[in-house]
Amino acid sequence: MKLTAARAQQLVSAAAGARRHAHAPYSKFRVGAALLAASGKMYTGVNVENASYGLTICAERVAVGSAVAAGERQFVAIAIVAPGAAMPCGACRQVLAEFGDCAVICADAKDRRQLRLEMLSVLLPHIFRL
Ligand code: THU
Repeated sequence: MKLTAARAQQLVSAAAGARRHAHAPYSKFRVGAALLAASGKMYTGVNVENASYGLTICAERVAVGSAVAAGERQFVAIAIVAPGAAMPCGACRQVLAEFGDCAVICADAKDRRQLRLEMLSVLLPHIFRL
């Protein structure tokens, strides 16, 4: 499965759509993610905050969990839509890297056409492995 420009845009749209369901009453920083599996299917995630702040789950990890629960193990790309086209946090990079390399597309929640694209292996070299 190749990541075409059209597919990248689809992924960003899915992430932006999911973002509407973000549960971020504390930070008000809403994040949506969409993960494209090698099967061609897309899996979305949003940040899920908690009154006990440290229990918050990032959008990327929710998307990974959803995809893995559906039997997916190979990923082509993840799109993340957040204010300022925020890059994925270190913990989410490690969780994504568990399943190999993939493209990371970051888009601003307001102007979704401005994309930042980088390979995960560039964002997180020398990942932890057991
Ligand atoms: N957040 C994500 O969803 N993904 C990241 O990669 C970094 C941060 C969320 C967690 C929290 O709900 C909010 O953004 C502010 O940190």
